[in-house]
Amino acid sequence: MAKINFGGVEEDVVTREEFPLAKAREVLKDETIAILGYGVQGPGQALNLRDNGFRVIVGQRKNSKTWEKAVADGWVPGETLFELEEACQKGTILQYLLSDAGQIAFWPTVKKHLTKGKALYFSHGFGVTYKDQTGIVPPADVDVILVAPKGSGTSLRRLFLEGKGLNSSYAIFQNATGKAEERVIALGIGVGSGYLFKTDFKKEVFSDLTGERGILMGALAGVMEAQYNLLRSKGHSPSEAFNETVEELTESLIKLVGENGMDWMYANCSTTAQRGALDWKNRFRDAVKPVFDQLYESVSSGNEARITIEANSKADYREKLQKELDELKNSEMWKTGTKVRELRP
Ligand SMILES: NC(=O)c1ccc[n+]([C@@H]2O[C@H](COP(=O)([O-])OP(=O)(O)OC[C@H]3O[C@@H](n4cnc5c(N)ncnc54)[C@H](OP(=O)(O)O)[C@@H]3O)[C@@H](O)[C@H]2O)c1
Repeated sequence: MAKINFGGVEEDVVTREEFPLAKAREVLKDETIAILGYGVQGPGQALNLRDNGFRVIVGQRKNSKTWEKAVADGWVPGETLFELEEACQKGTILQYLLSDAGQIAFWPTVKKHLTKGKALYFSHGFGVTYKDQTGIVPPADVDVILVAPKGSGTSLRRLFLEGKGLNSSYAIFQNATGKAEERVIALGIGVGSGYLFKTDFKKEVFSDLTGERGILMGALAGVMEAQYNLLRSKGHSPSEAFNETVEELTESLIKLVGENGMDWMYANCSTTAQRGALDWKNRFRDAVKPVFDQLYESVSSGNEARITIEANSKADYREKLQKELDELKNSEMWKTGTKVRELRP
């Protein structure tokens, strides 16, 4: 564990240098890691663990497209690819990577196979934190741990193949064996994390739900729409409105922020842009504060969990989601985006 100073605040983090892959392999040398679910996180974590030299099997419902995807990725039925329940039997570490709604439905089966000393691993604190709504209450004699990569499973895999990694949080909810800490850190390194920072299950889910509903997805799409619609209503063309709202951000400015920080990006824009952005940043911050306060309240009260569970447990949830996604796709702004991308050199 290294103490690192983040903007004046000290935190304990784990880096790959202090907890190298060889150590992770040693810690997990007798374990069979069963990846339950092969959606988005499943493939990223399973393939990275496999390529890093761990003993990994995949559990997935048969006769599905997802099963075929697992076969296409090199998992062999009867050897490294099994029906979910068989994988639960065989695994000593069960990485519970079904969708959050799927985790509720399948919980009685997983619970049956959580025998003494096994570890139950999540990539989200959702199921355990909102136990009143999910019914997920692990037995007392297993470790309950979490590694949550801060990004999509697709990026986790892509960055791994480039020799890089996504940062992940990690947490221990229950340390039944006394080995939960080394197990969870070894898994965090094994799945290909950048650095690991410690959290708890509740903080992980509160920050994660706030982030995705907020700046990462909900707020981002919302403010983009507001600006695009404004420019269009004032007579600007789709090209002008889209380039000024999305394309310049994704193709230029946000990459600079990722590389060098917001301060550097500001400092390298025109002084006209700097003056205006510095003034308007605070107005936007203050304007959205009440919405963020409502959002956090809705997350911490369990209201967001209730909405999500209700919606995603319905038999036709995929079709319903698809309808809303299609509306987004077919809006003028995002259709303009498709054209703009086609025209990129
Ligand atoms: N998406 C991400 O990149 C990301 C990032 C960080 C953390 N996480 C967390 O990682 C976990 C997995 O997320 P994900 O996005 O990878 O999930 P996902 O893609 O939605 O997971 C789908 C998987 O769950 C299975 N499944 C769904 N309902 C089922 C049921 N009732 N019975 C059996 N299997 C069922 C699916 O099988 P079928 O294909 O057969 O339906 C598929 O294998 C979640 O806790 C999530 O919060 C995800």
